[in-house]
Amino acid sequence: MIGRLNHVAIVVPNLAAGTAVYRDTLGATVSAVQTLPEHGVHVVFVELPNTKIELLEPIDARSPIAKFLEKNPSGGMHHVCYEVADILAARDKLKAEGAKVLGDGTPRIGAHGKPVLFLNPKDFCGTLVELEQV
Ligand code: CO
Repeated sequence: MIGRLNHVAIVVPNLAAGTAVYRDTLGATVSAVQTLPEHGVHVVFVELPNTKIELLEPIDARSPIAKFLEKNPSGGMHHVCYEVADILAARDKLKAEGAKVLGDGTPRIGAHGKPVLFLNPKDFCGTLVELEQV
């Protein structure tokens, strides 16, 4: 069911510093900053030959990732995103398997303008999983 790894998301306390690490130290191409108020994040995309890394910084203390940063003050890996062809079919299959889809199970529009869902880490080896329909 899952296809390519679309991206790995890393939460950072400071997006400018995270950008500098990936652009200057690691020599990657990093996008301009985008602000996604509906997700509570500022984000840059690190373009790699085979996937992307998203660096996420909370907009404010109400951001869904603010708590993550409280527990991981220097930042850390937040989720992995796998591509699926049909997100509703994927959701229904996962629910039938007993997996928990976060929120009300309705796909939201993610950072790339495509429908996404998040899955409970407890069901997926302790890792928050995002599914994106491509
Ligand atoms: Co993501």
